[in-house]
Amino acid sequence: MSTFYITTPIYYVNDLPHIGHAYTTLLADVLARYHRMLGDETFFLTGTDEHGQKVQEAAQARGVSEQVHVDETVQRFQELWAKLEITNDDFVRTTQERHTRVVQEVLQDLLDRDEIYKAEYDGWYDVKSETFVTEKDLDLAEGQSPDELPHIKRIKEANYFFRMGKYQQWLIDYIKEHPGFIQPDFRRNETLGFLENQALTDLCISRPKTRLSWGIELPFDADYVTYVWFDALVNYISVPGYRRDEETFNRWWPAEYHLIGKDILTTHTVYWPTMLKAMGVPLPKTVFAHGWWLSGKDKMSKSDGNVVNPMDYIEAFGVDPFRYFLMAEMALGQDASFTHENFVKRYNADLANDLGNLGSRVLKMIKANCGGRIPEVPADALAGAEEKALWAATQAAVSKMEETLEAMRLDLGINEVLTAVRACNKYLEQRAPWKQAKEDDKTPLYQTMYTAAEVLRVVSSLLYPVMPTKMRELRVALGLDDAAPDIEHARQWGVLVPGTEIGPPGILFPRHVEEKKQEPPKQEKNVENTEGVQDMSTITLDDFTRIELKTAEVLTAERIEDTEKLLKLQVKVGEETRQLVAGIALHYAAEDLPGRKIVIVANLKPRKVFGVMSEGMLLAARLGDRLRLVTVDGEQESGARVG
Ligand code: ME8
Ligand code: MG
Repeated sequence: MSTFYITTPIYYVNDLPHIGHAYTTLLADVLARYHRMLGDETFFLTGTDEHGQKVQEAAQARGVSEQVHVDETVQRFQELWAKLEITNDDFVRTTQERHTRVVQEVLQDLLDRDEIYKAEYDGWYDVKSETFVTEKDLDLAEGQSPDELPHIKRIKEANYFFRMGKYQQWLIDYIKEHPGFIQPDFRRNETLGFLENQALTDLCISRPKTRLSWGIELPFDADYVTYVWFDALVNYISVPGYRRDEETFNRWWPAEYHLIGKDILTTHTVYWPTMLKAMGVPLPKTVFAHGWWLSGKDKMSKSDGNVVNPMDYIEAFGVDPFRYFLMAEMALGQDASFTHENFVKRYNADLANDLGNLGSRVLKMIKANCGGRIPEVPADALAGAEEKALWAATQAAVSKMEETLEAMRLDLGINEVLTAVRACNKYLEQRAPWKQAKEDDKTPLYQTMYTAAEVLRVVSSLLYPVMPTKMRELRVALGLDDAAPDIEHARQWGVLVPGTEIGPPGILFPRHVEEKKQEPPKQEKNVENTEGVQDMSTITLDDFTRIELKTAEVLTAERIEDTEKLLKLQVKVGEETRQLVAGIALHYAAEDLPGRKIVIVANLKPRKVFGVMSEGMLLAARLGDRLRLVTVDGEQESGARVG
């Protein structure tokens, strides 16, 4: 039996959990459940990051101790995970002794082996992010001094440093030799770009208690606490038993996956591997960074008041539809947009209409026409062409699920299951069992109903990790026991036992009807380039085909100095990489672009914009002062022809 260890980031205990946190934890839960279904021994870890400036400040503001404060706030996460039916095997809090002791031992060991040293630091400090920064990091206006920024302070103090810099070349080589270590690929390139374009500095791993006291004390200097990241990352090994229980530790480590959001890529793919290397511990197999949930088209932020609270959706639609939406809607790795409209649309289409409908149809018809029992299965039930095709579609979904689990594209696997559901609905329409029921010979009716019930059974196993409660209900209604399904049965035909009594055909997913809203006035939309309005008078098809439109994937994006609107992008177009200049900086943050699939004019004559070469042009839709990139709907390779 193989083991499967998966982690989520440990979330800042001070924050209110929102759908971003819920997503990572849910994804880990769904993956853990699939692996259990495959028979793997699974360890799923999540938790909270409880030290640092913000906790100290929040506790002081409330006039309570830090420990009291975190003991309260941690419950918001624990309650949400319980609500979401998260099956984590452990929950780590960085204030727990089992963790702090290991952090201290690691620090002592690294100091003893000269991996940590003390030095004077004289430079800028960002109070907001609790990190040391250089002037280059700050994006200053000309002549502006860093300390004119409210959150930047000049700091001169002695601190402890981890010799991270000396591992630069080792890490570059490691990442290149282990393509699976950072996933998806474009994130690996991002880290490599970071490592190859600047000298890696040593990492300051202490904070003097005069500034911050809420942290793990350095075992060798009681005037300091540990930098939060050096503390937090260690949870991944302290919990499974590093330096506490060697046997357990060796069973689980190295982890299969550290799941993270793209915001914490550097800490997980630069700090963490070099820390492990210095400790002499092997690296995790894969750090997988997923994309960002946006609120509509915008970043979710507390100050904009557009943060989606999972509880609202859980209350209105139930836990399972919420789980389903997050898993089905986000193409793993890419950003995704959460809107109420999308939620309702997918809920009604996939769940109420396709799956819910299939469930109640099959159960109702068995109830009404087969005496409420799984019908006798005719010997040649799978002989018919329609049955064969339907069963093949169902088995394709099983394979696709296994494949996409491996490839971390579960959204595609789920999609394939829904394809099988639709095929089954269609099958029922073709076979018209309500007519077959009127015939004397019941064999065709039984064949139809048994086949449809079998498809439903397989679907219920495949979607079980995503919607455990609803799929359990469905399985019990089909006369199965309420244990979690295993994948072997999903591969087999004929598991339902004729004669088994079925449950009542309840409504799994009632259709959601929105209160009627006023239609917004119809507006004319036009697509234009980003540099000016083009005259779109009539052209011939020939004219059009001369324009080579292609899909491209954004690799990197950065602001062009001294401009307000321009970004310089490196994009991948099939096998080649190109540089584009785009006037979209007012509408998109550079860090949100890598990974997006856009459409470019590939055969535009290269030209210089603000002294920067641009080999092509991207397409965007503009109306008024809103500008949105033209992107590709779903999966498509870069370099594909558009037209
Ligand atoms: O960074 N879309 O904790 P954190 C998708 N304590 N995922 C999102 C998201 C969004 N809009 N917003 C947050 C920390 N996330 C550290 C981690 S680990 C050793 C220490 C998810 O509370 C995503 O997984 O800021 C992201 O990486 C994480 O929450 C950040 O959580
Ligand atoms: Mg954060």
